[in-house]
Amino acid sequence: MKNPTMTSKTITASAAGTWKLGDLTVNRIGFGAMRLPQNGEAFGTNTPSDRDRAIAVLRRAVELGVNHIDTAAFYFSSLRSANELINSALAPYPDDLVIATKVWPGRDPSGNWWWAEPGQLRGQVEENLRQLGRDHLDVVNLRVRPSRTGRSIAEHFAALADLRQAGLIRHLGISNATQEQLAEARRIAPVVCVQNPFGIGARPEDHALLRACGEQGIAFVPFFAIAGKGREAGASATDNDDILSIAHAHGATPAQVRLAWTLQRGPHVLAIPGTGNPDHLAANIAAGALRLTDDEMTRLDTL
Ligand SMILES: NC(=O)c1ccc[n+]([C@@H]2O[C@H](COP(=O)([O-])OP(=O)(O)OC[C@H]3O[C@@H](n4cnc5c(N)ncnc54)[C@H](OP(=O)(O)O)[C@@H]3O)[C@@H](O)[C@H]2O)c1
Repeated sequence: MKNPTMTSKTITASAAGTWKLGDLTVNRIGFGAMRLPQNGEAFGTNTPSDRDRAIAVLRRAVELGVNHIDTAAFYFSSLRSANELINSALAPYPDDLVIATKVWPGRDPSGNWWWAEPGQLRGQVEENLRQLGRDHLDVVNLRVRPSRTGRSIAEHFAALADLRQAGLIRHLGISNATQEQLAEARRIAPVVCVQNPFGIGARPEDHALLRACGEQGIAFVPFFAIAGKGREAGASATDNDDILSIAHAHGATPAQVRLAWTLQRGPHVLAIPGTGNPDHLAANIAAGALRLTDDEMTRLDTL
């Protein structure tokens, strides 16, 4: 593809192929819902988004073939909830739509953060079920508490495995996790995905975990692939010269190059770019058709 920005209207989320999360087949370009409740501002800010625009973005994503949406009950601003927007926009849900959510962190009604004890994970799962209007959740990621980095997650993961056995959850994943935690979780129950921050400039240990997931047939689902160091605050208005020149050579945008680079790390890498902007949505889906050369990949690898 020479110009994904110009042709984005015709490119769908299957352009980068598919992957199986357990028994659920998804297109490799998905959608992250964290950005929907706020008005184009950093996650955690309270200015509500335009409801009609957020709903239109979700419906357009599905029209363009997105069948993997990442969400969480703790994605809300003062007046908007990502789960409620997904429910209102998309229910009754298409048969092939896979909704992945996350538990362990929670937010009280005022937005203050708390962290669940293992016995409280059931309540967090049920909160997602109620908000999404479902009887079971397709994928639930155990989002590891920062203070547990490098420590055992066995008690929490075992509690989620019990909820899977009880039929509330179809497949389990882990998020913000290490290789050791992945190995520990897999000794308890099957893991279909690892959702971690990853993008151009990632650390060697992040690359190692991505590769390990591929070797074990587990999806690696990067977040902040566009936002990079901007993290929750979002993407920067300026970009690196190498990324800009590679984007220019393809008639693409820097955000598209960042997404294409992550997708080309392996067939098990699933993108979940987050946006409340319909033009950015179309561009992100079109990035699935952008193929970087080996030389371009090497240049980007060194950044
Ligand atoms: N497991 C976890 O701990 C965790 C943490 C963070 C996020 N997540 C999940 O991962 C998803 C992705 O993360 P994210 O949304 O923070 O980061 P991202 O997808 O890397 O980047 C989003 C940022 O890039 C901008 N953007 C998106 N598409 C663009 C485009 N085509 N051109 C220019 N700018 C573009 C967005 O602004 P606009 O809105 O203006 O487009 C926003 O500032 C989230 O939605 C969430 O579902 C998970």
